[in-house]
Amino acid sequence: MSDDYRDLGVTLPDGFLLGTATASYQIEGAVSEDGRTPSVWDVFSHAPGRTENGDTGDVADDHYHRWESDLDLLRDLGADAYRFSIAWPRVQPGGAGRVNDAGIAFYSRLVDGMLERGIRPWATLYHWDLPQELEDAGGWTNRDTASRFAEYAARAVEALGDRVAGWITLNEPWCSAFLGYAAGIHAPGRRDPAASLAAAHHLNLAHGLAVPEIRRAASNDPTVAITLNLHVVRPAEDEDGGGEAVRRVDAIGNRIFLDPVLHGRYPQDLLDDQRAISDFGFVRPGDLELIHQPIDLLGVNYYSTSRVRLAPGAPGSPAFPSTAGIEWLPEPGPLTEMGWNIDPSGLEELLVRSHEEFGIPLAVTENGAAFPDRVTDGAVHDPARIDYLHRHLAACRRAIDRGVDLRGYFVWSLLDNFEWSFGFSKRFGIVRVDYATQERIPKDSARWFAEVAATRALPDPAELR
Ligand code: FCB
Repeated sequence: MSDDYRDLGVTLPDGFLLGTATASYQIEGAVSEDGRTPSVWDVFSHAPGRTENGDTGDVADDHYHRWESDLDLLRDLGADAYRFSIAWPRVQPGGAGRVNDAGIAFYSRLVDGMLERGIRPWATLYHWDLPQELEDAGGWTNRDTASRFAEYAARAVEALGDRVAGWITLNEPWCSAFLGYAAGIHAPGRRDPAASLAAAHHLNLAHGLAVPEIRRAASNDPTVAITLNLHVVRPAEDEDGGGEAVRRVDAIGNRIFLDPVLHGRYPQDLLDDQRAISDFGFVRPGDLELIHQPIDLLGVNYYSTSRVRLAPGAPGSPAFPSTAGIEWLPEPGPLTEMGWNIDPSGLEELLVRSHEEFGIPLAVTENGAAFPDRVTDGAVHDPARIDYLHRHLAACRRAIDRGVDLRGYFVWSLLDNFEWSFGFSKRFGIVRVDYATQERIPKDSARWFAEVAATRALPDPAELR
């Protein structure tokens, strides 16, 4: 990998938010306390064979009980902002009707705790913990779930909308729709590509219905956003037809969300590609106007890139409906412990593309890496993670220099946590969690973060070794 992302003197612009991110089911634990009811992830993780080692979020980081000391850690890091998520089944058990005061009170204390420590709260309303009762009624394949979501969003914002600075409607609806309902490797574990397209549309609709509710219920003029895991898809260099493979993957990976949300339409080529499995009959007149709400910012989660080509006979990917005949090629390393390739130029490219096409402010709402950390004499030396974060933050700076209106960068994650189907086997935190004792150990990368936050500049990596 070239060294050009290691330039010294890389500074953060004024007002740039440097933060960390987490999600409710991955850290909170306390799954049956104070009125919370099960989400799809409780049910999925308890089903045999669904997660590595049978791990569940029952306890996770026990953040529900340790939130004050976790916020102290965040303050010690000098974070400007914290992106957390609200568990729908804590706030509205069962996903409909009555609001649970104890659930609201937890998030209210959390938000106040951030403000007391000088940290701006950024809340994600949906980071995958759908109330199981709604899944039993069809989950995201059921149109009514979109209305249920807007109602829940309204209740959450009525309670917290005087203090939360940024509201993100959905986290990575691509994962909800396609890992959840097509590939079946995320909750609820269904394998029905046609249904997954309906799920994608109902997620778009949920976003569109929630945005005006957030604006109505908030009293502090918040930033309203959606977070997408946009795929940086590149053509295989040695193949004809790479462009066509990229077009198809871009349609089902990116434009199925970007186009309705930001342009008010589904792309015709997506509809053509999917015609054999769906006529998109779930799109009702008026839906696209509802989905196409003005938003203040697009959140981008970025980890790696992918490379594709046309290959007759290739089965395609179960996570990308109607991609038979497309082959995913291994990306050159270096790789993280997830097997994801490290390529900061992909982030720069993504930010520039998003800026040029949509012209709205952006934030990197997740970026980070899992590596096999080890505790040595009470410390965790994680130079590979520092290197990863350093290069990606430098890529952000380069995007800004190319005119991108980038408002912030959130490291995934503050804490090691429950990494979905990988359970606790993958550690993304800049703070280590000992799951047996719940002890927290800030890793060297936490010290790196604190230095960036304090100096507003990237330190010389050589000095951190
Ligand atoms: C993203 C998720 C987040 C975390 C990271 C590694 O897809 O939004 O919860 O699992 O990946």
